Amino acid sequence: MLAIIGGSGLTDLANLEILRREVVRTPYGEPSGPITFGRIHGRDLIFLARHGYGHTIAPHEVNYRANLWALKQSGGSEILAVASVGGIRTAFGPGKLVLPHQIIDYTWGRISTLCEAPGSSVLHVDFGNPYTESLRLDLLAACKDAGVGVVAGGCYGATQGPRLETKAEIARLRRDGCDLVGMTGMPEAGLARELGLSYASLCVVANWAAGCDPADTEISLEEVLANVESVSGHLLPILEHLLEP
Ligand code: HPA
Repeated sequence: MLAIIGGSGLTDLANLEILRREVVRTPYGEPSGPITFGRIHGRDLIFLARHGYGHTIAPHEVNYRANLWALKQSGGSEILAVASVGGIRTAFGPGKLVLPHQIIDYTWGRISTLCEAPGSSVLHVDFGNPYTESLRLDLLAACKDAGVGVVAGGCYGATQGPRLETKAEIARLRRDGCDLVGMTGMPEAGLARELGLSYASLCVVANWAAGCDPADTEISLEEVLANVESVSGHLLPILEHLLEP
């Protein structure tokens, strides 16, 4: 079953036929909120707001392990992680939708594995391709069918937040090969792999990353939210095509 993790600006899925919400207990503590069970076109899916339904949980405070475990426990097998990001390179400007294919992890101090309990076996999962290619391809096809433009690849730099980056930090990410910057892509993707879940991310470029705006204006929260809002409207048609029987 498809499981959607909604990011900033996507704390609920409008037009989703909601069946019920369920509080799931996990060995890792509390997820960001109850899991929403819904339906599109008669196909079941589940939804969780990454930052809580009231958007109160910062990226470094999200209990990624509990979230993924709860989604798996609820029947989720394919995770579609929606996230807002900053754009670094010209092709990744505000308002673009991107399906990244690579990640560099700059986060620190987050619990990033499920194999840390005493006596648990160490899992060196393959993570060469951090996103599940088959799910990426399905999403690309769904975007095409829905007539929604999407950038079909990119390298996501995961930063710690919650503050935005300095221009020097973004210059370093650019030198490293990052196209996008966000605060939640890791450890989420790595944990999904450890749990054997398919995982792909649909990123909404909300703003130019620091120092990348040709007009060199400061990043405003209003601008970020307006961009996320304008792109979020495309999500439902994409899902409708993704879930088409
Ligand atoms: N940096 C990091 N995360 C983000 C940004 C950004 O500029 N915009 C949206 N999420």
